[in-house]
Amino acid sequence: MVATVRDMSKTFDNGVPTPVLFDVDLSVAPGELLAIAGPSGSGKTTLLNIVGLLDTPTKGEVWIAGRDASRLGEDERAVLRRDYLGFVFQFHYLLPEFTALENALLPCRMRGAAAEAEAKERVAALLAGVGLADRLHYRPGQLSGGQQQRVALVRALANDPALVLADEPTGNLDSKSGHAVWDLMRALNRATGKAFVIVTHDADFARRADRVVHLVDGRVVDR
Ligand SMILES: Nc1ncnc2c1ncn2[C@@H]1O[C@H](COP(=O)(O)OP(=O)(O)OP(=O)(O)O)[C@@H](O)[C@H]1O
Ligand SMILES: [Mg+2]
Repeated sequence: MVATVRDMSKTFDNGVPTPVLFDVDLSVAPGELLAIAGPSGSGKTTLLNIVGLLDTPTKGEVWIAGRDASRLGEDERAVLRRDYLGFVFQFHYLLPEFTALENALLPCRMRGAAAEAEAKERVAALLAGVGLADRLHYRPGQLSGGQQQRVALVRALANDPALVLADEPTGNLDSKSGHAVWDLMRALNRATGKAFVIVTHDADFARRADRVVHLVDGRVVDR
């Protein structure tokens, strides 16, 4: 499994305890494209953040690439995130002063200048593969919303992760661009064998996944 969550619960506590996830069990197989669906507030983002080691559970286990994240320090978690996980968010969070290529290369920069130089051609090829061959040196402000999100998708793949986590990656796009981004994720999943976990509240998109996990009020429900 590229990721496993066992009997995991999450309660936020900002003065008042807010239980959000209850006894969640979830496994992501290599190469699988899994959708997480559920109403607003059901805990989808919280779950994705915990799988992505961006947040910690209150109870239970999170395993990534065969390692129990609760046994790791923050530095080790950061290395695991960098080497095994890629992230796509609803808003692309591209840096406005950087070109498409520079933005997509940012995760490689975290591994040092040599790694960035080594990755340049590979990442440029990935950008070409999502239809941006003639936009490598454009800044985000010079790209359409769908093009920006395709750059963000390539950025998520830049370090060759085993698992890509995407939180409503099409939520901010019109229907046509949304379908294009979803088709690309599907194609990249099939071509590269990387696993994808994609949060969506769009039933059309969820149906195109290999498997759908439904969250209701913080619990995984059978449908
Ligand atoms: N940092 C926090 N502190 C307290 N409560 C939080 C925090 N983050 C999220 N919550 C609560 O957890 C619940 C689940 O939030 P979450 O963002 O995971 O939902 P979601 O399913 O992603 O919803 P949406 O579809 O609207 O994005 C919500 O009720 C929210 O108020
Ligand atoms: Mg959310």
